[in-house]
Amino acid sequence: MKRIYFNEVVMRDGFQMEPEFVPTDTKVALTDALSQCGYAKIEVTSFTSAKAIPMLRDAEEVMGRIQRHSGVEYTVLVPNMRGAERALESRPDEFNLVMSMSETHNLANLRMTRENSFAALREVIQRFGAQVPINVSLSTCFGCPMEGGVPQQEVLEWASRFTDLGVRGLTICDTTGMAQPAQVAQMCEVLRQRFAGLQLTLHFHNTRGMGLANVLAAVQSGIDRFDGSLGGLGGCPYAPGASGNICSEDAIHMLDAMGFDTGMDLNRLLPIARDLPGVVGHSVPGQVAKSGRISDLHPALPSVTSLKKELS
Ligand code: COA
Ligand code: ZN
Repeated sequence: MKRIYFNEVVMRDGFQMEPEFVPTDTKVALTDALSQCGYAKIEVTSFTSAKAIPMLRDAEEVMGRIQRHSGVEYTVLVPNMRGAERALESRPDEFNLVMSMSETHNLANLRMTRENSFAALREVIQRFGAQVPINVSLSTCFGCPMEGGVPQQEVLEWASRFTDLGVRGLTICDTTGMAQPAQVAQMCEVLRQRFAGLQLTLHFHNTRGMGLANVLAAVQSGIDRFDGSLGGLGGCPYAPGASGNICSEDAIHMLDAMGFDTGMDLNRLLPIARDLPGVVGHSVPGQVAKSGRISDLHPALPSVTSLKKELS
């Protein structure tokens, strides 16, 4: 059985666009509950400016209070040197640096040109890379909602510049759900050839309903790591039209049903997913938490039972 690894991003990508502040106690309890479910990684929070992302202004406190589970890596998003200095104090297992493949989205999200972002992140890698494993998330790899198409070559070039600096992983993000499965398959084939040995993660949003199709295309192209968000919550506040990530439990359910080893315990995860609307105060897009697993059967109607008897 092929192993597939999941990184839960609800605490960061999931919450960052929510209008109502989720209390720190709730964030800690949710992270602790998710830690029991079999994730390879949990992205707990982000060390961005509180003005830019008010929801995650309690990053230090959340990181300080969660109970770390052996076997789970606790990663945090880091946008700049200030964020890295703050994050280091919290002893994360990984820094997840971020920059966009689209100049316009990078300016919107990080208020810098891509070259300036790269220079700032290079400094972070050079200063902290020996102490903390570093992943780089490349946003808008499959298209930008403002610029349109992003050439694959562009993604490969930025990816190479980061791998030359010795990062351990790259996350290829479809920030606003513009990827389609044929494009994903092509991108994944090339990435695997070019960056063999690197931890490659795919990050999809289901903005146009192609999320799980894209996961499947990536799996079939040999990718074994995915970001997902509980309930399908999520989106970047600086990307117009952004909506939820692929739903973790739906993706896990699909891959489990196909016979992949996700290492996940859906019996634990689904009740947590069912509580999520109560946490954020609205319904969430995830399907399996609502409909149950394919193995959760319903009793036949009494009329069908009697018809069966009559016909037997
Ligand atoms: N943590 C806390 N505060 C930070 C910070 C960080 N990592 N980086 C900057 N700041 C503060 C500065 O101290 C300054 O505060 P002040 O106004 O009280 O003096 C203010 O933010 C502006 O600092 P500046 O260096 O001019 O940054 P900026 O305004 O260009 O913003 C980012 C840069 C990256 C910090 C900001 O755009 C950001 O956090 N963006 C959000 C990125 C994100 O998480 N997007 C969604 C996920 S992809
Ligand atoms: Zn995202």
